[in-house]
Amino acid sequence: MTQPEHDVLKAAQDNLWLHFTRHSAYQQSEIPTIVRGEGSYVYDIHGKRYLDGLAGLFVVQVGHGRQELAEAAAKQAQELAFFPLWSYAHPKAAELAQRLAAYTPGELNRVFFTTGGGEAVETAWKLAKQYYKLIGKPLKHKVISRQIAYHGTPQGALSITGIPAFKQMFEPLVPGSVRVPNTNHYRADEITGVKGMTPEEYGFWAAERVARAIEMEGPDTVAAVFAEPVQNAGGCFPPPPGYFQRLREICDEYDVLLVSDEVICAFGRLGTMFGGQKFDYVPDIITCAKGMTSGYSPIGAMIAHERLFEPFKDGDTMFAHGYTFGGHPVSAAVALANLDIFEREDLLGHVTANEPRFKQTLDDLRDLPIVGDVRGSGYFWGIELVKDKATKETFTADESERLLRGYLSKALFDAGLYCRADDRGDPVIQLAPPLIAGQKEFDEIGAILRGVLAEAWAQL
Ligand SMILES: Cc1ncc(COP(=O)(O)O)c(C=O)c1O
Repeated sequence: MTQPEHDVLKAAQDNLWLHFTRHSAYQQSEIPTIVRGEGSYVYDIHGKRYLDGLAGLFVVQVGHGRQELAEAAAKQAQELAFFPLWSYAHPKAAELAQRLAAYTPGELNRVFFTTGGGEAVETAWKLAKQYYKLIGKPLKHKVISRQIAYHGTPQGALSITGIPAFKQMFEPLVPGSVRVPNTNHYRADEITGVKGMTPEEYGFWAAERVARAIEMEGPDTVAAVFAEPVQNAGGCFPPPPGYFQRLREICDEYDVLLVSDEVICAFGRLGTMFGGQKFDYVPDIITCAKGMTSGYSPIGAMIAHERLFEPFKDGDTMFAHGYTFGGHPVSAAVALANLDIFEREDLLGHVTANEPRFKQTLDDLRDLPIVGDVRGSGYFWGIELVKDKATKETFTADESERLLRGYLSKALFDAGLYCRADDRGDPVIQLAPPLIAGQKEFDEIGAILRGVLAEAWAQL
């Protein structure tokens, strides 16, 4: 190891505070340190190559190492490095807002920029509260969201999040958020207490739970429902057919805003520009971030239906909310260049054409005794691991700890695949490669998973 490499590793150990990380895991070993990327691959500080099976963190849609995005950032920094969107505009934010509005379905024309996804969720909830105050329904402030769903870490977004273990140490959080069942059809028997519901029946049942929750809370107190097109935490729960159509009807019936949290699902992850387009529904608000710049610079957005902007048009009314770096000129310029690549390379078409191949590659792993379910959409898939395929019995907390943290995450990484072994719900492996990946990368993912999962089963 060279001296500079040694220095970096030491600085990481001594001074970095990693996110969502047990630092104890690195007491005896160095912190994996990634130094560069190229296409669908990243390289660590020792020069070892890894397939980026998670596109960073559902972010790097166009792949690593795109010079034109680096150049777009440099050019903008030279021209205008910074100016806020507080009472002033700058050309790249305006152009990006217009472009996003053109991609969205319906009349989602108003773009409020943030620096990331959690802030976009936070912004959506605050807008929902103020909107209803302005139109004379001041009691409407509560939100409904789904069990195990992750919506971010600011205290509002965390309150909406449905993962108790992430919330407990920060309670009391923002009051007024309520949980309903998610769209985990694989576990529908346990969730509903009814055996053998079809996906359609389960979708209807799950959507009806939202209506029940609104009734229970009082329709005049509920402002919004937050749902991802495909729920990430828990391991990729796509919506059963008809789910979002029924949810849309319910929201309209009770005058509740439907917020589509597309922080992961927007920008081609499912093969469509926005996630709701894949499943044919039009929300009132979209929250998005991650893939907008493919991660070459941070940005997020809340995109609202024009109707929600109406009460803010006149008089002394304003949305008293903002972020210094929201809609940063460099990030906006990079987002525009990123979207140019989407169009030039037809990334949406590429994902749509390759989705069946990716699915097939992962479905081929179903012969392994540990693979209980394979589910997802586009380039966004989860593999649920079980102890008993026939009964769908899952692992105990202890086994899950040994399997996921003790073995799988590291074994996959050592084998050259960066992805995520997650136990925020039942244990799953999550896969979301860059959108430029194709069969060669799918085959590599399949081969590594097969070897490591077989070994994990042997060790149980
Ligand atoms: C659905 C969803 N919402 C919100 C967030 C929070 O985004 P950020 O980490 O950019 O704040 C995430 C992050 O993964 C997410 O997946």
